[in-house]
Amino acid sequence: MDNRQLTTDNNRYNPLRPMLPAFFRKFPLFADLDDRELATIAAVAKTRRYGKDDVIFYADESGDIFCLIREGQVKVTMISPEGKEIILKILGPGDFFGEMALLDDEPRSATVVATEPLEIVTIWRHDFLQILQENFTLTRKLLAELSRRLRSASSRIESLATMDVYGRLARFFLDLARDQGKPLDSGYVAVTRPTHQAMANMIGTSRETVSRLIHDLMRQNLLISEGKTIYLKKTALDQFREEAT
Ligand code: CMP
Repeated sequence: MDNRQLTTDNNRYNPLRPMLPAFFRKFPLFADLDDRELATIAAVAKTRRYGKDDVIFYADESGDIFCLIREGQVKVTMISPEGKEIILKILGPGDFFGEMALLDDEPRSATVVATEPLEIVTIWRHDFLQILQENFTLTRKLLAELSRRLRSASSRIESLATMDVYGRLARFFLDLARDQGKPLDSGYVAVTRPTHQAMANMIGTSRETVSRLIHDLMRQNLLISEGKTIYLKKTALDQFREEAT
């Protein structure tokens, strides 16, 4: 996830206007395609909109569409047998989801929920597989992203198995800073602030514990929280990275 902006006033969604091939080049997955290849995608892609908290699809449903986020954010979640939500990943503009069920012909592996008003571009299974078959550069990019997600999942398994909750929160901030951090001259790195509940659901603890730990970090000036942004002290991130690797 990052803060890339895919919509501008000029290309704001208009259901009556066909999507132009150049629009698709803004998605990292399609960035290297030529005009003819982009035109093929533009011909089969559709746009859908959802409100905050709408479910895009549920785990275990059968799946027929591949989705790219044009605007907004989703959480990829699983619900434990006790009804507890576990957030696997938060995805934002430019990210994709819904590829797994199309690639392995299994049901959806997780539930995907809009955490903000959301606009996605969708491609049907048959067209998606055809596009992959015809374009190895794109297929490789998709595999590279799947590899990144597997690495990130492995790292989370490791931290859940070996770290206390403080370490897991530090690792979470390290990953957030790597994925979407903006370094500032003040010695802090700015990231968009997930809610305390979302952080708790990502690192396997309670919201109260996250609030308490964040309060501790704030008292030590290692973290500043302002509106929708968190500023993380760069030297603390560097130190944690050294200790964790
Ligand atoms: P699919 O299984 O079709 O539907 C759920 C989607 O959530 C899945 O495809 C992926 O796109 C996404 N997803 C599932 N697990 C993860 C994960 N661990 N990290 C990031 N994305 C995931």
